[in-house]
Amino acid sequence: MVLWDEPGHAVYWVGSQEESPFRCNAYLIVHGDVRVLFDPGSAMHHFEQVKSRVAAVIPPASVTHIVLHHQDPDLCDSLPQWVAVNPDVVLVTTPRTRVLLPYYGLPDWVKWLDVSPNDSTVLELSATDGAALAFLTAPFLHFPEAMVTFDTRSGFLFSGDVGAAIEKHWRLVVDDWDAHWKAMVPFHVFYMASSRALRGFTDKVAPFPITAILPQHGSILPGPMVRPALAALRELPCGIDLLYPDSNLESALRTLLR
Ligand SMILES: [Fe+2]
Ligand SMILES: [Fe+2]
Repeated sequence: MVLWDEPGHAVYWVGSQEESPFRCNAYLIVHGDVRVLFDPGSAMHHFEQVKSRVAAVIPPASVTHIVLHHQDPDLCDSLPQWVAVNPDVVLVTTPRTRVLLPYYGLPDWVKWLDVSPNDSTVLELSATDGAALAFLTAPFLHFPEAMVTFDTRSGFLFSGDVGAAIEKHWRLVVDDWDAHWKAMVPFHVFYMASSRALRGFTDKVAPFPITAILPQHGSILPGPMVRPALAALRELPCGIDLLYPDSNLESALRTLLR
């Protein structure tokens, strides 16, 4: 399914169709000889489907990079199969994710591109046309060194679990923001570390000219929903905000010192 198509640069949805509301989105960027696959999925549930969707666009062995936004099995478990498809493929992720990925059964000679936790890592898609992928960390959303990817050409933000939703009735692109937000809230409340983490991340990405948010679960948030989604996430109490609510000491003191 093509999501963006201009000469020399195309983005595809190559995810899985499954009954689980936890269904997984994988994405593919083709920019000349550079072919980047995002969060390819698990071995048992996703590999064959994702590979056949990739094969409808390019030979799977021509995938040059695989971006892993964090370490979970729903996006990383098929890595040994993908490395077997192209032993030269470069795995792109943060150091704290990288230390965990070999446990999926990777050979020790696999190639890596380390993403700096300082948000300074860029993958140039061409030496001449300026197209690039910028990798930004999303600390504790939900993994300590989770990351996202911004595609400078399409303006797409590949957001991993940030912006994800768990929905029974899936569609590729959100068409009803209010209904979709209700499907996003439980996922973020249970998975994301804290409101402070969400606020820091949404403030970090706000200056980027984002044209769509493409999460690993749920539906793509199109242009008009990008700013409402970032604003809503910024204010959402979640994770330890709710598990460990503030003691009432503060409000008691406020009352006493009034
Ligand atoms: Fe996850
Ligand atoms: Fe996930």
